Amino acid sequence: MATAEIPFLKEQLPFERAERFGKRLARVFERANVTLDHKKETLEAMEGLAEKHKISDFLIEFSEADPETFSHSMRMAATAYDIALEAEVPAELREGVLAGTMLHDNGKRSIDEAILMKPGKLTDDERKKIEEHALMGLKNLLEDKRFASAARVPGVKEITIGHHGYKKSVDGTRGAYPFDLSDSEHLPEDFYGMNVKGWDERMRRVVAISAAADMFDSAAHDRPYAKALESSEEIFTRLKLTSTLPDDLILYAVRRFAK
Ligand SMILES: [Fe+2]
Ligand SMILES: [Fe+2]
Repeated sequence: MATAEIPFLKEQLPFERAERFGKRLARVFERANVTLDHKKETLEAMEGLAEKHKISDFLIEFSEADPETFSHSMRMAATAYDIALEAEVPAELREGVLAGTMLHDNGKRSIDEAILMKPGKLTDDERKKIEEHALMGLKNLLEDKRFASAARVPGVKEITIGHHGYKKSVDGTRGAYPFDLSDSEHLPEDFYGMNVKGWDERMRRVVAISAAADMFDSAAHDRPYAKALESSEEIFTRLKLTSTLPDDLILYAVRRFAK
């Protein structure tokens, strides 16, 4: 059984920033209908990571500019970290799981808010715009100095570009983007300097965990475009129908539905 030790956590947040970031996290979790097995350790790890990689200012700014995506990202990070512990992801990769999921939708900061918050059905053009957030997020990690430290953690860039890589549409018209991680034959070998085809088994698992936590969070909570599903059975069925994720990861995620 994996333990919840936090090997990468060496520093504490300075009091004032810890309080601001911690309060926001606490509010996010008050409203979350997610049960976490390692809640205290996870919250401490999130605060510690934010300080270690100097992203707490970005996260506070994110929470003020786009509370919806910020809350989604923090819930998803906690869920993914919990799954990573249960799935016995090695300690050296858990830092990437947590930092990568906290930052996975940073590219949404560059997308027009009217499209992001649009309730109901999107046009094809609007959908394409939103789908650009994965690539924009990766470019931000590569170019924006605020992310220089976090971007070096193995898994952070991979989660940011790959968290929609296990999507599948029921009608076959659209699915994973910007590439389909379930189709290992056709993955790029040089994508903005990344050899996606060469990701090893453990890295694929880390990205799949992030995708499971992302899809779970979208199904389990009200989002601008859809109401939350009501039961773990419905969420399981939704994820089975709309993803190419392995069953064990879907189950690990769905077990956290607390309603
Ligand atoms: Fe996303
Ligand atoms: Fe997301």
